[in-house]
Amino acid sequence: MTVPTDRERWNEKWAGAEMGTNHGSKLVELLEPWLPQTGQLLDIAGGGSGDSLEFARRGLMVTVADVSDVGLAHARARAAAQSLVIRTVEVDLRSEPLPAGPWDVITIANYLQRDLFEAIVDGLAPGGLLGVVIPTVTNLERHERPGRPYSLDPDELPTLVSGVEILHHSEKWRPNGRHEAHLVAQSPVL
Ligand SMILES: C[S@@+](CC[C@H](N)C(=O)[O-])C[C@H]1O[C@@H](n2cnc3c(N)ncnc32)[C@H](O)[C@@H]1O
Repeated sequence: MTVPTDRERWNEKWAGAEMGTNHGSKLVELLEPWLPQTGQLLDIAGGGSGDSLEFARRGLMVTVADVSDVGLAHARARAAAQSLVIRTVEVDLRSEPLPAGPWDVITIANYLQRDLFEAIVDGLAPGGLLGVVIPTVTNLERHERPGRPYSLDPDELPTLVSGVEILHHSEKWRPNGRHEAHLVAQSPVL
């Protein structure tokens, strides 16, 4: 039996999700105190997310990178329906590089690929912001998904980013019912 690729798996999921879903990751709220009013924002694996639209509404130039062309089509349609403009890039981040920066803001929610964090930090502009929301293994006490491989170990997230200043890090049960690690970090200003 052939193992489906990430693209096939996620295209199937997003095709069944009408216009996409939002996990209620609250990236905008998390980044709010530090968010610039303008600049280039990269939302990694943001195919079905509503966060990117909120960032676009606030004036940021948003690029959503995701493996699923179906998820990205949903994102574009939802943006257009709200008269917002976003750019989308179809990319398999397990085998292809992150879209070239520098990025003033990089966000990533509910997608864990540990070996990506070095490239994420490298992709930040001087003074650039990183916002991350990912469930921890504690989340498995109440939810079956995301599974163990897609969940962070306790206090693991700050160890995945180096060369940046951690502005915020917390891990707890959130109002959306999930146990999530939240992190905001900033690259040094040259
Ligand atoms: C759980 S969803 C999270 C979506 C969004 N960030 C949110 O929080 O609502 C995971 C996303 O990762 C994308 N994805 C999965 N594997 C990927 C890969 N290898 N490269 C890029 N994106 C991938 C999926 O298409 C999907 O949109």
